Amino acid sequence: MNVAILNGGGDCPGLNAVTRAVTRTCIREYGYQVTGIRNGWRGLLEADIFPLDLNAVSDILQRGGTILGTSRTNPFKKEGGPELALENIRKLGFDALIAVGGDDTLGVASRLYKEYKIHTVGVPKTIDNDLSGTDYTFGFDTAVQIATEAIDRIHTTAESHSRVMVVEVMGRTAGWIAIMSGIAGGADAILTPEVPITVEEVCDFVNQRTARGKKFSIVVASEGAKFIRKTGEEKEVIASEEVDEFGHVRLGGIGNALGKAIEKITGHETRVTVLGHIQRGGTPTSRDRILATRFGVKAAEMVKTSQWGMMAALKGDDIKAVSLDEAVKKTKTVPQELYDVARIFFG
Ligand code: F6P
Repeated sequence: MNVAILNGGGDCPGLNAVTRAVTRTCIREYGYQVTGIRNGWRGLLEADIFPLDLNAVSDILQRGGTILGTSRTNPFKKEGGPELALENIRKLGFDALIAVGGDDTLGVASRLYKEYKIHTVGVPKTIDNDLSGTDYTFGFDTAVQIATEAIDRIHTTAESHSRVMVVEVMGRTAGWIAIMSGIAGGADAILTPEVPITVEEVCDFVNQRTARGKKFSIVVASEGAKFIRKTGEEKEVIASEEVDEFGHVRLGGIGNALGKAIEKITGHETRVTVLGHIQRGGTPTSRDRILATRFGVKAAEMVKTSQWGMMAALKGDDIKAVSLDEAVKKTKTVPQELYDVARIFFG
């Protein structure tokens, strides 16, 4: 049995822990052969592969990034792409393919199974935590930890200068990082894609604090939150109109737009920090290492038991197999009750 593994989409702390767990479980528990595919689906189309053995995955558990490399290539956007994927899988002698990614990468894995009968198994990865079917994705805990530390640091400088500080975090369609780091870091207002909130409402929270003698405020905004004015003006703030092969524009800029408007409306000096890829880089937290390891072990077991078109998922404290198709069908957004918890601390 030859098991191939690839990573797709944005990188994420914990990817190497999955590769290590899949490789060790396949080799040590089942006697399988394991092959790494470089740079996501692009590597499958280009037959860019290398063997994975116990030494290849030694000393990578704690390392951020991915030894496999990643890309946002979508085989379904290439003429003859899925057919080429199928041909290469046959040519290279792969019996199963473990895809580690978010909704885009896993959407491809699901279609390759449904439409081409390719033996795919999924592992959920994204710092955004917006994938259905699993309670959490790995990488999210690390991102929240980094964002929380950043908010803590921003707190002290905000206080020294009596400033409003806006912190822009990642999160395209779901505000998980913003809400969790905002709760943990004590944000005075949080903007997410799920709950529309006007610039004027944010300014009210700042003013409420000023009225009770608090001279600084911290505002956390997801990159995917809309810029909304009381007048009804509403826009998505983007860094570039260029779209990737899954049709996503590059987000970014809500922090700066918000910062300018807050300064103008409240008269408070305001500064903006965009955390960007710092949230995705570096070593995973112990929680992410453990979750990624459990997902990897489960994925190998799912290959052993031929659970094709399925994804390893966290359900409560258990790791279960769920349908890939179901998992990619809809975005997992932040529930209103969690937002309401955060809201109690606004202003
Ligand atoms: O999907 C994960 C993510 O980090 C998003 O939060 C963010 O919008 C996007 O990737 C950034 O992508 P890139 O690294 O291609 O700029």
